[in-house]
Amino acid sequence: MNQGNNSRVAEFVLLGLSSSWELQYFFFMLFNFLYIIIVLGNLLIVLTVISEPALHIPMYIMLSNLSILDVFLATYATPKMIHDFLHEPKTISFEGCMAQIFLLHVFAGGEMVLLVAMAYDRYVAICKPLHYATIMNLCKCTGLIVGSWVIGVMHSLSQLAFTVNLPFCGPNVVNNYYCDLTLVIKLACTDTYIPEVLMLLDSGLMGVASFLLLLTSYTVILVTVQRCSSVDMTKARSTLTAHIIVVSLFFGPCIFIYAWPFSNFPVDKVLSVFSTVFTPILNPIIYTLRNKEVKLAMHKLKTRYVCSGLPSQLSLLRLDVLS
Ligand SMILES: *[C@@H]1O[C@H](CO)[C@@H](O)[C@H](O)[C@H]1NC(C)=O
Repeated sequence: MNQGNNSRVAEFVLLGLSSSWELQYFFFMLFNFLYIIIVLGNLLIVLTVISEPALHIPMYIMLSNLSILDVFLATYATPKMIHDFLHEPKTISFEGCMAQIFLLHVFAGGEMVLLVAMAYDRYVAICKPLHYATIMNLCKCTGLIVGSWVIGVMHSLSQLAFTVNLPFCGPNVVNNYYCDLTLVIKLACTDTYIPEVLMLLDSGLMGVASFLLLLTSYTVILVTVQRCSSVDMTKARSTLTAHIIVVSLFFGPCIFIYAWPFSNFPVDKVLSVFSTVFTPILNPIIYTLRNKEVKLAMHKLKTRYVCSGLPSQLSLLRLDVLS
């Protein structure tokens, strides 16, 4: 079996989402539509944030950066998948396959860290409102954003480091619509136990650590909101619940795929679609529905400020999440 590096496979065959022609035509239309929505929706957020000076605060800067990441996350594999629906055979070059693995882990890793940074920003705003200005500023925010990219790239490089050099000598069928690391590793003509464990530790620790950090900060925020606020509590809780849903929809599939890397469930494909197509759609929907409400809340705040004389900065910061 093991014929060395010289006979390394030139390309991989992707089985795609389905082999039925009718379904593939349907998916072609569906994912075309979803992809256009993802790109337009997220670019709209970026444009809105850039053009509105009032939104040049850490929360919205991070939000628009999240939108950029969402577009990338939807672009590294989805257009190829859409193209492949109408083409046979569905192949990808060895280099293209490694590029997909690299990009997926940069964008997904970056998005995980950025979601944690956004939750941390909200945590400081709600639980330490008086110290918000000293803890969070645009400079720190830039640091967090750059940091999320750096962590994403480092995580991805560490994954690729032990993948590129594996001997891929023959088997080249990947049962998904993109080169998924968990599936590609298993094609190597060698005992893949150690690489699989390394991959599991690398991606698993990254995913689980970010997920736990997110859960912790959102729980603390929920408890804080519940304890010291009588205003708009239901609203606050529903906004936070929406955030937690986005986070779970993104992390749930990742954790599921990487928690059972040794068997290839058919659900893996559905879960892959969830993290690369539905999260990038849900993010703008869930995070921008708040935009309108922030404006509404500011009107309420004005009235409330005049009536109760609350420190305006405190109320403003609280309203960011309450709305
Ligand atoms: C993304 O973050 C960087 C660093 O803070 C910022 O300069 C940039 O404007 C952000 N991008 C958008 C589209 O807001």
